[in-house]
Amino acid sequence: MTEQSKHIISRKKEHLELCKTDAVQFKEKTSGFEKYDFLHSAITEAQIDKIDLSKKFFGKKVTYPFLISCMTGGTTEGENINLQLAEVAADLNIPLGLGSLRFALETNDYDEHFKQIRKAAKAVPLLGNIGGAQIIKMKSFKTLFHLLDKVESDVLVVHLNPLQELLQKNGEPNFYGIKKSLEKLVKQSSMPIIVKEVGSGISKKSAQVLLDLGIAGIDIAGAGGTSWAGVEILRNKQSTENPFWDWGLPTSYCIKTVAELKKKNKFMLIGSGGINSSFDAAKALALGADFTASARIILQTLIKDQQAGVITLIKDWFEDVKQIMFLTDSQNLRSFGKEKLILKKDCY
Ligand SMILES: Cc1cc2nc3c(=O)[nH]c(=O)nc-3n(C[C@H](O)[C@H](O)[C@H](O)COP(=O)(O)O)c2cc1C
Repeated sequence: MTEQSKHIISRKKEHLELCKTDAVQFKEKTSGFEKYDFLHSAITEAQIDKIDLSKKFFGKKVTYPFLISCMTGGTTEGENINLQLAEVAADLNIPLGLGSLRFALETNDYDEHFKQIRKAAKAVPLLGNIGGAQIIKMKSFKTLFHLLDKVESDVLVVHLNPLQELLQKNGEPNFYGIKKSLEKLVKQSSMPIIVKEVGSGISKKSAQVLLDLGIAGIDIAGAGGTSWAGVEILRNKQSTENPFWDWGLPTSYCIKTVAELKKKNKFMLIGSGGINSSFDAAKALALGADFTASARIILQTLIKDQQAGVITLIKDWFEDVKQIMFLTDSQNLRSFGKEKLILKKDCY
């Protein structure tokens, strides 16, 4: 194993250990959902038993407008977690994001693991994942496409994490050429490309640039949940007073503003970053997200309450979402829009 691979393994281990705790939460900045309340409708004709939350995710029908965000990989524990989450996703019939393929690309011995993941996930959509900083350096995408084939990935997610790369020891804060690389990837890939952040958010302006490059989906992964600056600051044993800890655009702001681009562009909008309750998920959907997603709370629930705990958590969240839809007179997800929300400051 190369020195580089050893470094990646120990970094992934530390990421996983830190994300098992709440020490990596944003400090003062929030996702902004707490500013909203639902517009209660005393007159509701929504029939709760007929509310259907199923939705198409790039051609595959899934049960909820929810996916498990890309996490882990590269360590034995990470692989095990991915396998367990694949079974959870299959049970719930929801999409699953995989952790970055970077390590697999460098070590070349992941074919068997990916076959296992696909087997455990049954037919649910799987999202392969790679860093923007990595695709810039690739002369060819052949090996990446080979791995994506092994896992029978439905979608490729490219994560953009400039803040994390900036603060990470031996990070690669160099995204020069990212637009050209993404454009090339879109042209050569047989699958749709989603671009995501990891907790600092994607602005409306950046989203428009991505859409002009042919990106099919945007996961804004905003601020208010896991702070990846926080993760790296803790790894570096630096002062937790570092002002970059709370850097980023709040999740609710990103969803609301990026959703405005839907008037003129066709794309999937995923709202994530600090989605830690049924009400967060419902507000993300009402603000304009097509799908919502969570990472760290899923990891923590899996560790604490095993697979059954994650299944119960997600099922319970979406039972609540149905009740919220009933109380706001929303028969379906199409009619569950931002007019179903009020800003708390306007009413009390
Ligand atoms: C343990 C862990 C590992 C992660 N690894 C990746 C990764 O490999 N690729 C990626 O795009 N995002 C990764 N993320 C970021 C998440 O997908 C997500 O964008 C971020 O944590 C914010 O969501 P949250 O507030 O629900 O945790 C990881 C998150 C966690 C908790």
